[in-house]
Amino acid sequence: MKPDTELTPKQIVKELDKYIIGQGRAKRCVAIALRNRWRRQQVQGELREEIMPNNIIMIGPTGVGKTEIARRLAGLANAPFLKVEATKFTEVGYVGRDVESMVRDLADIAVSKVKAEAAETVRPAAEAAAEERLLDLLLPFDGSAAEAPTLANDVASVAHARSELQQRRERSREKFRQRLQSGEMEDRLVELDVMEDHFSMMQIFSPVGIEEMGLNIQELFGGMMPKKRKKRKATVTEARQVLTQEEVSKLVDMDKVVTEAINRTENLGIIFIDEIDKVVGDGGGSGPDVSREGVQRDILPVVEGTSVITKYGIIKTDHILFIAAGAFHASKPSDLIPELQGRFPIRVELDSLTGKDFVRILTEPRNALVKQYIELLKAEGVDLCFTAGAVKEIAAIADRVNRKMENIGARRLHTIMNTLLEDLLFDLPKSGLVKVTIDQTEVKKKLEKIVEDEDLSRYIL
Ligand SMILES: Nc1ncnc2c1ncn2[C@@H]1O[C@H](COP(=O)(O)OP(=O)(O)OP(=O)(O)O)[C@@H](O)[C@H]1O
Ligand SMILES: [Mg+2]
Repeated sequence: MKPDTELTPKQIVKELDKYIIGQGRAKRCVAIALRNRWRRQQVQGELREEIMPNNIIMIGPTGVGKTEIARRLAGLANAPFLKVEATKFTEVGYVGRDVESMVRDLADIAVSKVKAEAAETVRPAAEAAAEERLLDLLLPFDGSAAEAPTLANDVASVAHARSELQQRRERSREKFRQRLQSGEMEDRLVELDVMEDHFSMMQIFSPVGIEEMGLNIQELFGGMMPKKRKKRKATVTEARQVLTQEEVSKLVDMDKVVTEAINRTENLGIIFIDEIDKVVGDGGGSGPDVSREGVQRDILPVVEGTSVITKYGIIKTDHILFIAAGAFHASKPSDLIPELQGRFPIRVELDSLTGKDFVRILTEPRNALVKQYIELLKAEGVDLCFTAGAVKEIAAIADRVNRKMENIGARRLHTIMNTLLEDLLFDLPKSGLVKVTIDQTEVKKKLEKIVEDEDLSRYIL
Protein backbone atom coordinates (compact mmCIF):
# COMPACT_ATOMS: atom_id res chain seq x y z
CA MET A 1 0.00 0.00 0.00
CA LYS A 2 1.29 3.40 -0.83
CA PRO A 3 2.08 5.55 2.19
CA ASP A 4 0.58 8.67 0.66
CA THR A 5 -2.82 7.03 0.50
CA GLU A 6 -2.64 6.03 4.14
CA LEU A 7 -4.11 8.48 6.61
CA THR A 8 -2.11 9.74 9.58
CA PRO A 9 -3.68 9.44 13.04
CA LYS A 10 -4.52 13.15 13.02
CA GLN A 11 -6.24 12.84 9.66
CA ILE A 12 -8.20 9.82 10.84
CA VAL A 13 -9.44 11.70 13.90
CA LYS A 14 -10.32 14.63 11.70
CA GLU A 15 -12.39 12.41 9.45
CA LEU A 16 -14.14 10.82 12.42
CA ASP A 17 -14.85 14.28 13.80
CA LYS A 18 -17.05 14.93 10.80
CA TYR A 19 -19.53 12.38 12.10
CA ILE A 20 -18.89 11.77 15.78
CA ILE A 21 -18.95 14.38 18.47
CA GLY A 22 -16.58 14.03 21.41
CA GLN A 23 -15.19 10.58 22.35
CA GLY A 24 -11.71 11.95 21.73
CA ARG A 25 -9.85 9.15 23.43
CA ALA A 26 -11.62 6.40 21.55
CA LYS A 27 -10.91 8.17 18.30
CA ARG A 28 -7.24 8.56 19.18
CA CYS A 29 -6.90 4.90 20.08
CA VAL A 30 -8.42 3.57 16.90
CA ALA A 31 -6.47 6.09 14.84
CA ILE A 32 -3.19 4.95 16.38
CA ALA A 33 -4.09 1.30 15.91
CA LEU A 34 -4.95 1.91 12.28
CA ARG A 35 -1.74 3.76 11.58
CA ASN A 36 0.27 1.11 13.38
CA ARG A 37 -0.84 -1.37 10.75
CA TRP A 38 0.95 0.66 8.13
CA ARG A 39 3.93 1.42 10.39
CA ARG A 40 4.53 -2.26 10.96
CA GLN A 41 4.57 -2.81 7.22
CA GLN A 42 7.53 -0.43 7.02
CA VAL A 43 9.54 -2.44 9.54
CA GLN A 44 12.10 -4.69 7.89
CA GLY A 45 13.37 -8.04 8.99
CA GLU A 46 12.21 -10.46 11.63
CA LEU A 47 11.10 -7.79 14.07
CA ARG A 48 8.06 -7.23 11.90
CA GLU A 49 6.77 -10.66 12.80
CA GLU A 50 7.15 -9.85 16.48
CA ILE A 51 5.08 -6.68 16.42
CA MET A 52 1.63 -7.74 17.45
CA PRO A 53 -1.45 -5.59 17.04
CA ASN A 54 -2.77 -4.01 20.20
CA ASN A 55 -6.36 -5.08 20.18
CA ILE A 56 -8.79 -2.54 21.56
CA ILE A 57 -11.96 -2.89 23.54
CA MET A 58 -14.34 0.07 23.55
CA ILE A 59 -16.66 0.30 26.49
CA GLY A 60 -19.43 2.81 26.85
CA PRO A 61 -23.12 3.17 27.52
CA THR A 62 -25.58 2.58 24.75
CA GLY A 63 -25.96 5.17 22.01
CA VAL A 64 -22.74 7.10 22.52
CA GLY A 65 -21.12 6.33 19.21
CA LYS A 66 -19.34 2.96 19.43
CA THR A 67 -20.96 1.46 16.37
CA GLU A 68 -20.86 4.82 14.64
CA ILE A 69 -17.07 4.95 15.06
CA ALA A 70 -16.81 1.48 13.57
CA ARG A 71 -19.01 2.37 10.63
CA ARG A 72 -17.05 5.49 9.79
CA LEU A 73 -13.75 3.73 10.29
CA ALA A 74 -14.81 1.15 7.75
CA GLY A 75 -15.13 3.91 5.18
CA LEU A 76 -11.71 5.30 6.02
CA ALA A 77 -9.56 2.24 6.28
CA ASN A 78 -7.68 1.45 3.18
CA ALA A 79 -7.16 -1.95 4.68
CA PRO A 80 -9.63 -4.84 4.59
CA PHE A 81 -12.15 -3.99 7.27
CA LEU A 82 -15.00 -6.10 8.57
CA LYS A 83 -17.62 -5.22 11.16
CA VAL A 84 -19.48 -8.09 12.77
CA GLU A 85 -21.84 -8.54 15.67
CA ALA A 86 -20.66 -11.04 18.23
CA THR A 87 -24.26 -12.13 18.67
CA LYS A 88 -24.27 -13.54 15.16
CA PHE A 89 -21.97 -16.35 16.13
CA THR A 90 -22.62 -19.61 17.84
CA GLU A 91 -20.29 -22.09 19.34
CA VAL A 92 -18.87 -24.68 17.00
CA GLY A 93 -21.31 -27.52 16.73
CA TYR A 94 -24.37 -25.36 17.18
CA VAL A 95 -26.46 -24.22 14.26
CA GLY A 96 -25.32 -20.81 13.11
CA ARG A 97 -22.19 -19.05 12.01
CA ASP A 98 -18.95 -20.16 13.50
CA VAL A 99 -16.44 -17.57 14.63
CA GLU A 100 -13.91 -18.40 11.95
CA SER A 101 -16.33 -17.25 9.29
CA MET A 102 -15.36 -13.67 10.13
CA VAL A 103 -11.89 -14.33 8.80
CA ARG A 104 -13.38 -15.82 5.65
CA ASP A 105 -15.58 -12.77 5.22
CA LEU A 106 -12.57 -10.51 5.71
CA ALA A 107 -10.72 -12.43 3.02
CA ASP A 108 -13.69 -12.02 0.70
CA ILE A 109 -13.61 -8.28 1.27
CA ALA A 110 -9.89 -8.17 0.58
CA VAL A 111 -10.22 -10.18 -2.61
CA SER A 112 -12.97 -8.05 -4.04
CA LYS A 113 -11.04 -4.90 -3.18
CA VAL A 114 -7.80 -6.09 -4.75
CA LYS A 115 -9.73 -7.36 -7.74
CA ALA A 116 -11.38 -3.99 -8.20
CA GLU A 117 -8.00 -2.29 -8.01
CA ALA A 118 -6.53 -4.68 -10.55
CA ALA A 119 -9.53 -4.16 -12.81
CA GLU A 120 -8.94 -0.42 -12.62
CA THR A 121 -5.34 -0.74 -13.79
CA VAL A 122 -6.17 -2.97 -16.73
CA ARG A 123 -9.26 -0.99 -17.68
CA PRO A 124 -7.64 1.16 -20.41
CA ALA A 125 -6.22 -1.94 -22.09
CA ALA A 126 -9.52 -3.75 -21.70
CA GLU A 127 -11.40 -0.83 -23.19
CA ALA A 128 -9.08 -0.74 -26.16
CA ALA A 129 -9.51 -4.47 -26.72
CA ALA A 130 -13.26 -4.14 -26.37
CA GLU A 131 -13.26 -1.44 -29.00
CA GLU A 132 -11.44 -3.73 -31.43
CA ARG A 133 -13.98 -6.45 -30.78
CA LEU A 134 -16.82 -4.00 -31.28
CA LEU A 135 -15.34 -3.00 -34.60
CA ASP A 136 -15.12 -6.66 -35.56
CA LEU A 137 -18.81 -6.97 -34.82
CA LEU A 138 -19.70 -3.85 -36.75
CA LEU A 139 -17.49 -4.70 -39.70
CA PRO A 140 -17.61 -8.43 -40.27
CA PHE A 141 -14.83 -9.67 -42.49
CA ASP A 142 -15.95 -9.38 -46.09
CA GLY A 143 -15.07 -12.74 -47.69
CA SER A 144 -16.09 -11.97 -51.25
CA ALA A 145 -13.72 -9.04 -51.51
CA ALA A 146 -10.83 -11.29 -50.60
CA GLU A 147 -11.42 -13.31 -53.73
CA ALA A 148 -11.04 -10.33 -56.04
CA PRO A 149 -7.22 -10.21 -56.37
CA THR A 150 -7.04 -13.77 -57.75
CA LEU A 151 -8.55 -12.47 -60.96
CA ALA A 152 -5.49 -10.36 -61.60
CA ASN A 153 -3.03 -12.07 -63.89
CA ASP A 154 0.42 -11.32 -62.59
CA VAL A 155 1.98 -11.62 -59.17
CA ALA A 156 2.76 -7.94 -58.79
CA SER A 157 -0.75 -6.82 -59.45
CA VAL A 158 -2.11 -9.47 -57.11
CA ALA A 159 0.05 -8.06 -54.36
CA HIS A 160 -0.94 -4.58 -55.33
CA ALA A 161 -4.65 -5.36 -55.30
CA ARG A 162 -4.31 -7.12 -51.96
CA SER A 163 -2.62 -4.20 -50.32
CA GLU A 164 -5.15 -1.84 -51.82
CA LEU A 165 -7.94 -3.93 -50.36
CA GLN A 166 -6.16 -4.05 -47.05
CA GLN A 167 -5.84 -0.28 -47.04
CA ARG A 168 -9.46 0.20 -47.92
CA ARG A 169 -10.48 -2.08 -45.12
CA GLU A 170 -8.31 -0.21 -42.67
CA ARG A 171 -9.68 3.10 -43.81
CA SER A 172 -13.25 2.06 -43.24
CA ARG A 173 -12.31 0.56 -39.91
CA GLU A 174 -10.81 3.89 -38.88
CA LYS A 175 -13.92 5.69 -40.04
CA PHE A 176 -16.06 3.39 -37.96
CA ARG A 177 -13.73 3.86 -35.03
CA GLN A 178 -14.21 7.61 -35.21
CA ARG A 179 -17.96 7.27 -35.42
CA LEU A 180 -17.87 4.88 -32.52
CA GLN A 181 -15.79 7.22 -30.44
CA SER A 182 -17.92 10.22 -31.26
CA GLY A 183 -20.84 8.33 -29.75
CA GLU A 184 -23.12 8.45 -32.77
CA MET A 185 -23.43 4.67 -33.00
CA GLU A 186 -24.50 3.96 -29.46
CA ASP A 187 -27.96 2.72 -30.38
CA ARG A 188 -26.86 0.53 -33.26
CA LEU A 189 -27.59 -3.16 -32.68
CA VAL A 190 -24.86 -5.75 -32.88
CA GLU A 191 -24.95 -9.47 -32.40
CA LEU A 192 -23.05 -10.43 -29.32
CA ASP A 193 -21.67 -13.71 -28.13
CA VAL A 194 -22.21 -13.74 -24.40
CA MET A 195 -21.35 -16.12 -21.64
CA GLU A 196 -24.46 -17.59 -20.15
CA ASP A 197 -25.06 -16.68 -16.56
CA HIS A 198 -25.55 -19.50 -14.12
CA PHE A 199 -25.56 -17.17 -11.20
CA SER A 200 -29.17 -16.34 -10.64
CA MET A 201 -30.17 -19.96 -10.95
CA MET A 202 -27.55 -21.18 -8.54
CA GLN A 203 -28.41 -18.68 -5.90
CA ILE A 204 -31.78 -20.29 -5.39
CA PHE A 205 -30.46 -23.78 -4.95
CA SER A 206 -27.52 -22.99 -2.74
CA PRO A 207 -28.54 -24.14 0.72
CA VAL A 208 -28.22 -21.64 3.50
CA GLY A 209 -25.00 -22.03 5.36
CA ILE A 210 -23.02 -23.83 2.72
CA GLU A 211 -20.71 -20.86 2.54
CA GLU A 212 -19.82 -21.72 6.11
CA MET A 213 -17.59 -24.40 4.75
CA GLY A 214 -15.81 -21.83 2.69
CA LEU A 215 -17.22 -23.34 -0.43
CA ASN A 216 -18.70 -21.32 -3.12
CA ILE A 217 -21.31 -23.36 -4.83
CA GLN A 218 -21.41 -21.06 -7.80
CA GLU A 219 -17.73 -21.49 -8.45
CA LEU A 220 -17.98 -25.18 -7.80
CA PHE A 221 -20.72 -25.86 -10.27
CA GLY A 222 -19.90 -22.98 -12.54
CA GLY A 223 -16.55 -24.62 -13.22
CA MET A 224 -18.04 -28.04 -13.76
CA MET A 225 -20.67 -27.04 -16.21
CA PRO A 226 -19.53 -26.25 -19.70
CA LYS A 227 -19.63 -22.51 -20.16
CA LYS A 228 -22.40 -22.01 -22.63
CA ARG A 229 -22.21 -19.08 -24.94
CA LYS A 230 -25.26 -17.71 -26.57
CA LYS A 231 -25.88 -15.08 -29.15
CA ARG A 232 -27.97 -12.09 -28.41
CA LYS A 233 -28.64 -8.65 -29.82
CA ALA A 234 -27.36 -5.70 -27.91
CA THR A 235 -26.87 -2.03 -28.47
CA VAL A 236 -23.35 -0.76 -28.91
CA THR A 237 -23.48 0.83 -25.46
CA GLU A 238 -24.45 -2.44 -23.85
CA ALA A 239 -22.04 -4.50 -25.93
CA ARG A 240 -19.17 -2.23 -24.99
CA GLN A 241 -19.86 -2.85 -21.32
CA VAL A 242 -20.11 -6.59 -21.70
CA LEU A 243 -16.99 -6.80 -23.83
CA THR A 244 -14.99 -4.54 -21.54
CA GLN A 245 -16.00 -6.69 -18.60
CA GLU A 246 -14.91 -9.81 -20.42
CA GLU A 247 -11.60 -8.27 -21.38
CA VAL A 248 -11.05 -7.10 -17.83
CA SER A 249 -11.49 -10.59 -16.46
CA LYS A 250 -9.13 -11.91 -19.10
CA LEU A 251 -6.47 -9.38 -18.16
CA VAL A 252 -6.74 -9.61 -14.38
CA ASP A 253 -4.44 -12.25 -13.02
CA MET A 254 -6.56 -13.89 -10.32
CA ASP A 255 -3.64 -15.78 -8.81
CA LYS A 256 -1.85 -12.53 -8.16
CA VAL A 257 -5.04 -10.96 -6.82
CA VAL A 258 -5.53 -13.78 -4.34
CA THR A 259 -1.92 -13.71 -3.17
CA GLU A 260 -2.09 -9.96 -2.59
CA ALA A 261 -5.47 -10.23 -0.90
CA ILE A 262 -4.26 -12.91 1.52
CA ASN A 263 -1.23 -10.80 2.28
CA ARG A 264 -3.40 -7.78 3.05
CA THR A 265 -5.85 -9.78 5.11
CA GLU A 266 -3.10 -11.22 7.25
CA ASN A 267 -1.06 -8.06 7.72
CA LEU A 268 -3.49 -5.17 7.45
CA GLY A 269 -6.87 -6.70 8.19
CA ILE A 270 -9.10 -5.23 10.86
CA ILE A 271 -12.10 -6.94 12.41
CA PHE A 272 -14.50 -4.94 14.50
CA ILE A 273 -16.52 -7.13 16.85
CA ASP A 274 -19.54 -5.18 18.02
CA GLU A 275 -21.83 -6.17 20.90
CA ILE A 276 -19.11 -8.21 22.55
CA ASP A 277 -20.91 -7.76 25.88
CA LYS A 278 -23.83 -9.77 24.53
CA VAL A 279 -21.80 -12.97 24.60
CA VAL A 280 -21.15 -12.66 28.30
CA GLY A 281 -23.00 -15.39 30.16
CA ASP A 282 -24.35 -14.91 33.66
CA GLY A 283 -22.03 -17.55 34.98
CA GLY A 284 -24.87 -19.91 35.72
CA GLY A 285 -23.37 -22.48 33.43
CA SER A 286 -26.62 -23.68 31.97
CA GLY A 287 -28.96 -22.94 29.12
CA PRO A 288 -27.94 -20.72 26.25
CA ASP A 289 -25.09 -19.24 28.27
CA VAL A 290 -23.05 -22.32 27.68
CA SER A 291 -23.14 -21.43 24.04
CA ARG A 292 -22.27 -17.80 24.72
CA GLU A 293 -19.18 -18.67 26.67
CA GLY A 294 -18.44 -21.12 23.95
CA VAL A 295 -18.43 -18.23 21.50
CA GLN A 296 -15.95 -16.38 23.68
CA ARG A 297 -13.79 -19.46 23.82
CA ASP A 298 -14.00 -19.82 20.06
CA ILE A 299 -12.99 -16.20 19.60
CA LEU A 300 -9.82 -16.71 21.65
CA PRO A 301 -7.68 -18.56 19.13
CA VAL A 302 -8.82 -16.33 16.30
CA VAL A 303 -7.72 -13.25 18.19
CA GLU A 304 -4.57 -14.92 19.45
CA GLY A 305 -3.51 -16.20 16.09
CA THR A 306 -4.63 -19.31 14.32
CA SER A 307 -4.91 -20.60 10.78
CA VAL A 308 -8.26 -20.42 9.13
CA ILE A 309 -9.04 -22.34 5.99
CA THR A 310 -10.71 -20.22 3.36
CA LYS A 311 -11.48 -20.87 -0.24
CA TYR A 312 -8.45 -18.76 -1.13
CA GLY A 313 -6.09 -20.75 1.04
CA ILE A 314 -4.98 -20.72 4.65
CA ILE A 315 -5.07 -17.39 6.44
CA LYS A 316 -3.09 -16.74 9.58
CA THR A 317 -4.81 -14.40 11.99
CA ASP A 318 -1.81 -13.44 14.15
CA HIS A 319 -1.56 -9.92 12.84
CA ILE A 320 -5.19 -9.09 12.24
CA LEU A 321 -6.26 -6.19 14.42
CA PHE A 322 -9.36 -6.75 16.52
CA ILE A 323 -11.44 -3.95 17.93
CA ALA A 324 -14.28 -4.99 20.18
CA ALA A 325 -17.07 -2.83 21.52
CA GLY A 326 -19.85 -3.27 23.98
CA ALA A 327 -22.12 -1.33 26.28
CA PHE A 328 -21.54 -3.65 29.23
CA HIS A 329 -24.53 -2.31 31.05
CA ALA A 330 -25.73 -5.69 32.25
CA SER A 331 -22.25 -7.07 32.64
CA LYS A 332 -18.70 -5.88 33.12
CA PRO A 333 -15.68 -6.38 30.94
CA SER A 334 -14.33 -8.47 33.78
CA ASP A 335 -17.19 -10.89 33.16
CA LEU A 336 -15.61 -11.85 29.89
CA ILE A 337 -13.58 -14.98 30.28
CA PRO A 338 -10.13 -13.89 31.52
CA GLU A 339 -8.23 -15.21 28.55
CA LEU A 340 -10.31 -13.06 26.27
CA GLN A 341 -9.82 -9.96 28.41
CA GLY A 342 -6.10 -10.48 28.13
CA ARG A 343 -6.30 -10.41 24.38
CA PHE A 344 -7.67 -6.89 24.36
CA PRO A 345 -4.96 -4.97 26.18
CA ILE A 346 -6.24 -1.51 25.31
CA ARG A 347 -9.42 -0.42 27.03
CA VAL A 348 -11.13 2.77 26.06
CA GLU A 349 -14.13 4.13 27.84
CA LEU A 350 -16.53 6.29 25.92
CA ASP A 351 -18.18 9.15 27.70
CA SER A 352 -21.87 9.47 28.41
CA LEU A 353 -23.36 12.25 26.36
CA THR A 354 -24.81 15.37 27.93
CA GLY A 355 -27.00 18.25 26.79
CA LYS A 356 -23.99 20.15 25.46
CA ASP A 357 -22.99 17.22 23.29
CA PHE A 358 -26.55 16.86 22.06
CA VAL A 359 -26.59 20.43 20.78
CA ARG A 360 -23.52 19.64 18.70
CA ILE A 361 -24.78 16.21 17.64
CA LEU A 362 -28.00 17.76 16.41
CA THR A 363 -26.28 20.26 14.18
CA GLU A 364 -22.61 19.54 13.49
CA PRO A 365 -22.10 16.07 11.98
CA ARG A 366 -22.38 15.66 8.23
CA ASN A 367 -25.43 13.52 8.83
CA ALA A 368 -26.85 15.63 11.68
CA LEU A 369 -30.54 15.09 12.37
CA VAL A 370 -31.42 18.74 11.90
CA LYS A 371 -29.77 18.69 8.49
CA GLN A 372 -31.63 15.50 7.60
CA TYR A 373 -35.04 16.96 8.39
CA ILE A 374 -34.26 20.19 6.56
CA GLU A 375 -33.43 18.19 3.44
CA LEU A 376 -36.51 15.98 3.83
CA LEU A 377 -38.81 18.98 3.96
CA LYS A 378 -37.07 20.59 1.04
CA ALA A 379 -38.56 17.79 -1.02
CA GLU A 380 -41.98 19.21 -0.13
CA GLY A 381 -40.87 22.70 -1.03
CA VAL A 382 -40.73 23.79 2.58
CA ASP A 383 -37.88 25.75 4.08
CA LEU A 384 -37.48 24.33 7.58
CA CYS A 385 -35.51 26.29 10.11
CA PHE A 386 -34.55 25.70 13.72
CA THR A 387 -33.57 28.58 15.97
CA ALA A 388 -30.58 28.13 18.24
CA GLY A 389 -32.98 28.22 21.17
CA ALA A 390 -34.99 25.35 19.71
CA VAL A 391 -31.92 23.18 19.27
CA LYS A 392 -30.85 23.93 22.83
CA GLU A 393 -34.27 23.03 24.12
CA ILE A 394 -34.38 19.74 22.21
CA ALA A 395 -30.96 18.85 23.59
CA ALA A 396 -32.00 19.76 27.11
CA ILE A 397 -35.15 17.66 26.86
CA ALA A 398 -33.17 14.70 25.54
CA ASP A 399 -30.78 15.04 28.43
CA ARG A 400 -33.63 15.26 30.93
CA VAL A 401 -35.45 12.24 29.60
CA ASN A 402 -32.20 10.27 29.52
CA ARG A 403 -31.60 11.06 33.16
CA LYS A 404 -35.15 10.45 34.25
CA MET A 405 -35.62 7.21 32.43
CA GLU A 406 -33.13 5.02 30.66
CA ASN A 407 -30.00 6.60 29.24
CA ILE A 408 -30.06 5.66 25.58
CA GLY A 409 -27.61 8.33 24.55
CA ALA A 410 -27.96 10.09 21.24
CA ARG A 411 -30.66 7.69 20.11
CA ARG A 412 -33.00 9.76 22.26
CA LEU A 413 -32.64 12.60 19.80
CA HIS A 414 -34.20 10.53 17.06
CA THR A 415 -37.40 9.88 19.01
CA ILE A 416 -37.63 13.44 20.23
CA MET A 417 -37.17 14.97 16.81
CA ASN A 418 -39.71 12.60 15.41
CA THR A 419 -42.29 13.45 18.05
CA LEU A 420 -41.62 17.14 17.59
CA LEU A 421 -42.09 17.07 13.85
CA GLU A 422 -44.71 14.38 13.53
CA ASP A 423 -47.66 16.67 12.81
CA LEU A 424 -45.73 18.68 10.29
CA LEU A 425 -44.48 15.57 8.54
CA PHE A 426 -48.04 14.29 8.33
CA ASP A 427 -49.61 17.52 7.09
CA LEU A 428 -47.23 18.17 4.26
CA PRO A 429 -47.61 18.86 1.41
CA LYS A 430 -49.82 21.80 2.19
CA SER A 431 -50.40 24.56 -0.28
CA GLY A 432 -49.11 27.97 0.72
CA LEU A 433 -46.76 26.58 3.35
CA VAL A 434 -43.24 27.38 2.28
CA LYS A 435 -41.43 28.25 5.46
CA VAL A 436 -41.54 26.73 8.94
CA THR A 437 -39.48 28.07 11.77
CA ILE A 438 -39.23 26.07 14.95
CA ASP A 439 -38.26 28.05 18.01
CA GLN A 440 -37.87 27.32 21.67
CA THR A 441 -41.52 28.05 22.54
CA GLU A 442 -42.69 25.70 19.83
CA VAL A 443 -40.47 22.90 21.16
CA LYS A 444 -41.68 23.50 24.70
CA LYS A 445 -45.29 23.59 23.59
CA LYS A 446 -45.02 20.32 21.71
CA LEU A 447 -42.92 18.35 24.16
CA GLU A 448 -43.29 19.76 27.65
CA LYS A 449 -46.48 17.89 28.44
CA ILE A 450 -45.06 14.58 27.32
CA VAL A 451 -41.85 15.08 29.26
CA GLU A 452 -43.73 16.02 32.43
CA ASP A 453 -45.98 13.01 32.26
CA GLU A 454 -43.77 10.09 33.07
CA ASP A 455 -46.16 7.47 31.73
CA LEU A 456 -46.55 9.29 28.46
CA SER A 457 -42.87 9.85 27.95
CA ARG A 458 -42.12 6.25 28.73
CA TYR A 459 -44.07 5.30 25.65
CA ILE A 460 -43.49 8.20 23.33
CA LEU A 461 -39.96 9.44 23.91
N1 LIG B 1 -20.82 10.98 19.79
C1 LIG B 1 -21.74 10.99 18.82
N2 LIG B 1 -21.71 11.92 17.87
C2 LIG B 1 -22.65 11.90 16.89
N3 LIG B 1 -23.66 11.05 16.79
C3 LIG B 1 -23.75 10.10 17.72
C4 LIG B 1 -22.79 10.02 18.78
N4 LIG B 1 -23.14 8.99 19.56
C5 LIG B 1 -24.22 8.44 19.02
N5 LIG B 1 -24.60 9.10 17.92
C6 LIG B 1 -25.77 8.79 17.09
O1 LIG B 1 -26.61 7.92 17.84
C7 LIG B 1 -26.93 6.74 17.14
C8 LIG B 1 -26.53 5.52 17.94
O2 LIG B 1 -25.14 5.45 18.11
P1 LIG B 1 -24.31 4.09 18.04
O3 LIG B 1 -24.99 3.15 17.13
O4 LIG B 1 -22.91 4.41 17.74
O5 LIG B 1 -24.47 3.60 19.52
P2 LIG B 1 -23.59 2.50 20.30
O6 LIG B 1 -22.61 3.24 21.13
O7 LIG B 1 -23.06 1.53 19.34
O8 LIG B 1 -24.71 1.87 21.25
P3 LIG B 1 -25.04 0.32 21.57
O9 LIG B 1 -24.21 -0.03 22.73
O10 LIG B 1 -26.49 0.36 21.91
O11 LIG B 1 -24.75 -0.47 20.36
C9 LIG B 1 -26.22 6.81 15.82
O12 LIG B 1 -27.18 6.94 14.83
C10 LIG B 1 -25.34 8.03 15.86
O13 LIG B 1 -25.60 8.83 14.73
MG1 LIG C 1 -23.69 -0.42 18.82
